[in-house]
Amino acid sequence: MDADTLTEPTQVRVELGDRSYDILIGADLLAQASAHISPFLKQDRVFIVSDETVWRLHGDALNATFSKAGLSVIEKILPAGESTKSWTLLGETLDWLLEHGASRDDVLIAFGGGVIGDLTGFAASMLKRGMQFIQIPTTLLAQVDSSVGGKTAVNARHGKNLIGAFYQPRLVLADTSVLATLPDRERRAGYAEIIKYGLINDRAFIDWLSQHGRDVLDLVPNAIAEAVAVSCRSKAQIVAQDEQEGGVRAVLNLGHTFGHALEAENGYGPDLLHGEAVGTGMVLALRYSARLGLMPESEAERGANLIAQSGLTANLGALPGGPYDSAALVEAMRQDKKARGGKVPLILAKGLGEAFIYPNADLSDVQDFLQEELQKS
Ligand code: NAD
Ligand code: GLY
Repeated sequence: MDADTLTEPTQVRVELGDRSYDILIGADLLAQASAHISPFLKQDRVFIVSDETVWRLHGDALNATFSKAGLSVIEKILPAGESTKSWTLLGETLDWLLEHGASRDDVLIAFGGGVIGDLTGFAASMLKRGMQFIQIPTTLLAQVDSSVGGKTAVNARHGKNLIGAFYQPRLVLADTSVLATLPDRERRAGYAEIIKYGLINDRAFIDWLSQHGRDVLDLVPNAIAEAVAVSCRSKAQIVAQDEQEGGVRAVLNLGHTFGHALEAENGYGPDLLHGEAVGTGMVLALRYSARLGLMPESEAERGANLIAQSGLTANLGALPGGPYDSAALVEAMRQDKKARGGKVPLILAKGLGEAFIYPNADLSDVQDFLQEELQKS
């Protein structure tokens, strides 16, 4: 498929009964946003939450599509960055909606990365017990992961994402053209989540990424559209089976128990992005799987190379935000909601594309393993 032929968006359906919805993926979708959103409108207005960076770069384009359609836009622009996912700004957003008389049949649009999507979705779930919610994700991470599946949250003093709800959007519009302004580092962080879908259950996708990963990172139109579509299809299938993570959805957390510990040690600060932590966290999950004899070491190293080739850090000793401490990392893993008596469930793998839930990893053995990994730079 040529870039020039990418006019019709790719459609991926998330099957959740009467809460099913479409993810539309394609170039220049912002210009068509009002046409895609109109079927959900019962009033001639939309509410939009965005961040200062995204609004400065892409706000005019989104505004233009609504004003052309005769719709008014009421926007709330929040500061960019993880600290926006706060109880305080959530409350401010709800007050803003109430001040403007928002009702359940109004449409609230999240226009930004995972931070804006998570906060806005949570606000939508609460406003008068639930208003219509649409995601227009603008980071690669948000297009392939956070905008799909209905997890919404803000952070608490006690930790990340501790206050939230499952609340599905009515529609996701992933315009791959907006990624052109995304800094390289943020692109790579999103790419880690793309590799994740291959590592979970799709070896053919790993082979495809080995060949086309550079094109995805360079945003070659057909390559980025394919990578986003495969990722969304994969996530949609898993979410359709287990919306609220009673079982199989946990595989989407491959690399995340290690990754969250790394983020916690960094105070969730800007030195280490979520996707960067997940990238190295996945390498740790593969290498720990090999250490337990679950998969060949050569397979784990192939996965590590895929991470490293994209410019992400495979080795813990070289990860930004370090140096890390194995005892502190294990302490953070002990805070996992599912940790019990020195054991924690981990998503491990029997091979590339064969992730599974390993229910009881021994944290003292994990600490020895991390100590060894810290020597690798
Ligand atoms: P983000 O929303 O902070 O965006 C990263 C940065 O990119 C921000 O500074 C933002 O202003 C900027 N940006 C966004 N779009 C841009 C564009 N097109 N051009 C230029 N700059 C742009 O971070 P993120 O990586 O998108 O999301 C991380 C958040 O997502 C975390 O809070 C994480 O917990 C959450 N998350 C949620 C889920 C879920 O299922 N709900 C899944 C994964 C991650
Ligand atoms: N990002 C993990 C999930 O959505 O379940």
